[in-house]
Amino acid sequence: MELDDINTITVLGAGNMGHGIAEVAALAGYQVNLRDINEEFVQNGYDQIEWSLGKLAEKDQLSDEEANAALERVATYVDLAESVSDADVVIEAVPEKMDIKKDVYTELEAAAPDHTIFATNTSSLSISELADVTERPEQFCGMHFFNPPVRMQLVEVISGAETAEETMDVISDLAEAMDKTPVRVHKDSPGFIVNRILVPLMNEAAWAVESGDTTIAEVDSTAKYEIGLPMGSFELADQVGIDVGYHVLQYMHEVLGDAYEPCPLLEEKVEEEKLGKKTGKGFYDYE
Ligand code: CAA
Repeated sequence: MELDDINTITVLGAGNMGHGIAEVAALAGYQVNLRDINEEFVQNGYDQIEWSLGKLAEKDQLSDEEANAALERVATYVDLAESVSDADVVIEAVPEKMDIKKDVYTELEAAAPDHTIFATNTSSLSISELADVTERPEQFCGMHFFNPPVRMQLVEVISGAETAEETMDVISDLAEAMDKTPVRVHKDSPGFIVNRILVPLMNEAAWAVESGDTTIAEVDSTAKYEIGLPMGSFELADQVGIDVGYHVLQYMHEVLGDAYEPCPLLEEKVEEEKLGKKTGKGFYDYE
């Protein structure tokens, strides 16, 4: 397959990442099928796309016509088979749990056309292990966007053990067509490149606070005003979703060892369902 053969992109999962990826694909002119497991989730994702496009138009980064045209390119689905019947590429952004993703790929393999490329937006899980569930591991790769997708430039394009170079080429071209900068990652290791570095940074900040050596305000102020990062670690954890970072760490801990042990401070927030911006409360309040 080549870039010009791609017309329709299905995004599975309408959450934080899924709706943002769908928005980026629609802005690039693709027909987008956005699917989640129930009407409420998929409508919520659609509403967030509408909100985000409105914001971009408000700031003159888009015309109202462009915003409306992008929104019109997004169709919503609950039925997985229907959502992928005409898909050239499926970008999967369902929760970051191996079992959930494997179940989705089993269903997807049975429903998607033979030519469809599967691209997972996993933040850390093994591409090869996910691809093994399908009968098309050569047409399977990682396509990892960053939060918020509409604002972040980078996309990691990750090869599994059996991914064809042609698949890496077309997905890298697709990232460029979406106005993003792809970085090819040829080793399928936990967290790939960015999260291997960024998530331990969030974890270490949490350990420093947990041990009483510093405070959330001190950490975030130094990151922002001294180190020059766009956001402090705790602000970033709230932006990404504390549960997302926590699940990445759990997986890195399991595969890479004790250096990646998640801080209890993160676990507590997950248990209390204070997950950051998306739930209105995390390390900071957004209500
Ligand atoms: N669509 C449209 N507008 C949006 C938006 C979206 N999705 N998200 C936020 N905005 C708007 C806000 O509503 C706000 O609007 P107002 O000005 O009207 O209030 C505005 O954007 C915020 O803009 P700011 O001027 O305050 O901030 P900024 O433009 O300078 O930067 C940022 C915002 C791009 C998010 C910046 O803070 C940043 O780069 N942060 C770091 C993000 C990051 O590192 N992400 C990667 C996380 S790791 C990851 O995602 C991987 C993983 O797998 C875990």
